[in-house]
Amino acid sequence: MTHTLIYPETTRHNERGHLEIGGCDVVDLADEFGTPLFVYDELALRHQCRAYREAFSRMGAQHEIVYASKAFTCVAMCQLIAEEGLSLDVASGGELFTARAAGFPAARIYFHGNNKSASEIELGLDSGVGCFVVDSFAEIDLLERLAAERGLRQPVLVRLTPGITPATHRYVQTGQHDSKFGFGLDHDIAARAVQACLAAPHLELRGVHAHLGSQIFDLSSYASAIEVLFAEAQRWRERFGFACAVVNLGGGLGIRYTARDHPSSIAELAEVTITATRQEVARRGLPMPKVLVEPGRSIAGKAAVTVYRVGTIKEIPDVRTYVAVDGGMSDNIRPMLYGSRYEAMLANKATVPATVEVTVAGKHCESGDILVRDVKVAPPEVGDLLVTPSTGAYGYSMANNYNAQPRPAVVFVSDGAARVVIARESWDDLIRLQRPLHEVPVASVGASPRQSSVTEGASPGRPGEEASAVVTPGLPETRQTSDQRRAGSWRQ
Ligand code: LLP
Repeated sequence: MTHTLIYPETTRHNERGHLEIGGCDVVDLADEFGTPLFVYDELALRHQCRAYREAFSRMGAQHEIVYASKAFTCVAMCQLIAEEGLSLDVASGGELFTARAAGFPAARIYFHGNNKSASEIELGLDSGVGCFVVDSFAEIDLLERLAAERGLRQPVLVRLTPGITPATHRYVQTGQHDSKFGFGLDHDIAARAVQACLAAPHLELRGVHAHLGSQIFDLSSYASAIEVLFAEAQRWRERFGFACAVVNLGGGLGIRYTARDHPSSIAELAEVTITATRQEVARRGLPMPKVLVEPGRSIAGKAAVTVYRVGTIKEIPDVRTYVAVDGGMSDNIRPMLYGSRYEAMLANKATVPATVEVTVAGKHCESGDILVRDVKVAPPEVGDLLVTPSTGAYGYSMANNYNAQPRPAVVFVSDGAARVVIARESWDDLIRLQRPLHEVPVASVGASPRQSSVTEGASPGRPGEEASAVVTPGLPETRQTSDQRRAGSWRQ
C-alpha cells in the first residue's frame, strides 16, 4: 500500500478491515472523541525528531535542531519536543506562552517575528528566551532598550533575506529580495543591522538566520543561500571584526502529501547544508559555525491524519460526486490557500478497493471549500469515516472558526492508547468572549464623556486588552503592566 509513504508509520489495516494508527482503531477513535479529529502518531513525531538529530550528528558538525512550533503547537507537543532534546522556534507571544506553559526550557527557545510587540519582547526577555532573531531596525532599538532596563545582555541572530527564491508556492517563499522578512543584503542594509547589533551594549550578536521558504523539494537553494551568507559573513569580518558563530538556515524541507510528491530526505538536507557550510568556510578562511535548522512540516506533517464523518453524498451525473464531510476549510485551509493536494480514504472500509472517484467537500458556505479533488475511495455511504493523511502541519495551527465552527479535538495515539491533547471546542467556547449588545456600560473610553458611547466593559478592545485586566496565573508581572501601559496609551 502507498500508506507507508503518506500515512504515519504505525498505520495498518486491522482484522476488522479498519484503519489503525498507533495501535488504535480509527473507527473507535471517531466514536469516542467525535469528528473532525486530528490523530497524531506519537511515535512518528518522536522518530522525525530523532531522524533530524541522527542525520545531523552523522555529519559530525556542531548543530542544533529547532522545531518550528508554528507547524503544530500545544502544551503536549512542546513537552514532546523538549523530551526529544530539540530546541523550539516561536513566532509570537502566544507560541511563547504555550511553550512556557509546557515548561519548555527557555534557553532553548528562538524568538522569531517580523513585528514583535513591546509586550511580546518583554515576555521573551522575562522568560529568559535563549535567542531573539531580530528582523528590523525598530526591533533592534526596542530590544536594546528593554534589555538595558533589565540589565540583561540578550543573545540575538540577525535575520537576512539572501535573495534566493526556492521553487515552491509563492505564498511560502521568504528568501527572495522582495520579502517582508529580515534584512536585505543590498544597499548595505544587512551590514547596518549587524553594525547596530554590535553597537548595542545589551545585545550579543551570535550569527545570522535565513529561512528560504517552505515545502522545498530541491535542496540546491540551501547551498546557494549558504554561499551568499558566507560571502556576507566574510565582508563583516573584515569590516567589523564580527565572527559568525551560528548560522541558522530556517526550515522548509518538503514532505509528501500525495504519491506524486518526491521530497528530499532529512539525511540529504543534513548532507547538503553541512557540506556547503564546510566548503564555504574553508574557501574563505572562516571558523566553522554551529549550524541550525528549523523544521516544522517535516516533523509534524506526516505524523497526523484528520478523520471526518461523511454527512451527505451528492452525485451530479456525468460531472462528479461530492462527498461532504463535517469539517473543511476551518480545519484545513491549505487547499484553498495554496491549492494543496491531499489523498483520502475511508477508515471503516480500509480493505475495500478504492473504485469510486469523488471530490471531498467541506461543510462551509464557500464553493471553494474543497478538501480533496478527484480522489478514488471505496464506495462511499453516509456515515463513513473519511481520512485525509499528512495533515499534521499547518492544519490545526491554521484552524479557524469560520461559520462559527468549533475547532476539532487533537489526540495523540501510541501503543493502543489515545490521549486528548487539545479538547474539542464547544459552542459555549465560541461565544465565551462575546458580550450582549445591551450590557451596562461601566466607564467611558476615548473622547469626552459626553460624546463617548463606547465603554470599558464592552471595550473596542485590542486583542489581549481585556485579558490583561484579569490576573492570569503564570503570567509574569511585566506582561500585565505592559499591557496596561498599552491599554493606557490606546485610551489617550
Ligand atoms: N523557520 C521560519 C523562520 C519559518 O518562517 C518557518 C515557516 C519555519 C522555520 C518552518 O518551516 P517548515 O519546515 O515547516 O517548512 N502555512 C504554510 C507554511 C508557512 C510556513 C511559514 N514559516 C503551509 O501550510 O504550507
